[in-house]
Amino acid sequence: MNYGYIDLNGELPLELNPDDEEDRYFIQLYHHVATAVDIQGKDVLEVGSGRGGGASYVKRYLKPRTVLGIDIAQSAVDLSNQLHQVPGLSFQQGDAENLPLEDELFDVVLNVESSHCYGNMEKFVAEVFRVLRPGGYFSFTDLRFANKLQETRKLFHESLFTILKEKIITENVVAALDEVSEWKKESLKKVTPFFLRKSFYDLTAVKDTGGYNVLKTGKKIYISCLLQKPV
Ligand SMILES: C[S@@+](CC[C@H](N)C(=O)[O-])C[C@H]1O[C@@H](n2cnc3c(N)ncnc32)[C@H](O)[C@@H]1O
Repeated sequence: MNYGYIDLNGELPLELNPDDEEDRYFIQLYHHVATAVDIQGKDVLEVGSGRGGGASYVKRYLKPRTVLGIDIAQSAVDLSNQLHQVPGLSFQQGDAENLPLEDELFDVVLNVESSHCYGNMEKFVAEVFRVLRPGGYFSFTDLRFANKLQETRKLFHESLFTILKEKIITENVVAALDEVSEWKKESLKKVTPFFLRKSFYDLTAVKDTGGYNVLKTGKKIYISCLLQKPV
């Protein structure tokens, strides 16, 4: 359900099981976010876990102790629980702005291409801070209109987190969009009625649609950040 990511520094491609190959570019965005820190043996929360494929990749390949995926859509949570039955991985319904979780439960919080949907980003950041253990990490990626990017940066800077890394990854995301465009078009053709097809192409940023062009021309920027809660 995300735009995908290609490492442009010529790093070796990720080794994936044949069953995961179809999702390679979407998984690579998760890999980028979830390997910003070592999560092996850690308790991980993903906020906005969608259909759960990313959380499943993280649990199966990067070996955290547990992964909990939270999504506001009950249908996405039900589908995730049905599709991904992996020990230590679970999904639960909840709102990013009011997480149904106790304080200081997690070592790492992941957030992939979801925060642009939230009404109050400040509340979300405060919630992430609350559920992280001291010294815990918040690894974030999403897109923003270029003229709104400063707002997100300011919010992070003014939060109680320490900012460890910030990277603009628009080029990496556009490279992935280019790579998956034809496949996405063909897949969407099979599952969407003709009259809705254009909107779905746009929503999923198929090449040469508005959703794609805003990134290609720099009107929207894709950013990733790693933040840490003080010890
Ligand atoms: C574009 S999808 C990305 C899903 C997944 N992270 C991925 O990369 O495949 C955005 C997800 O955020 C979820 N979402 C939107 N608003 C939310 C909120 N307030 N709290 C939790 N999840 C939310 C949506 O239901 C959707 O599943």
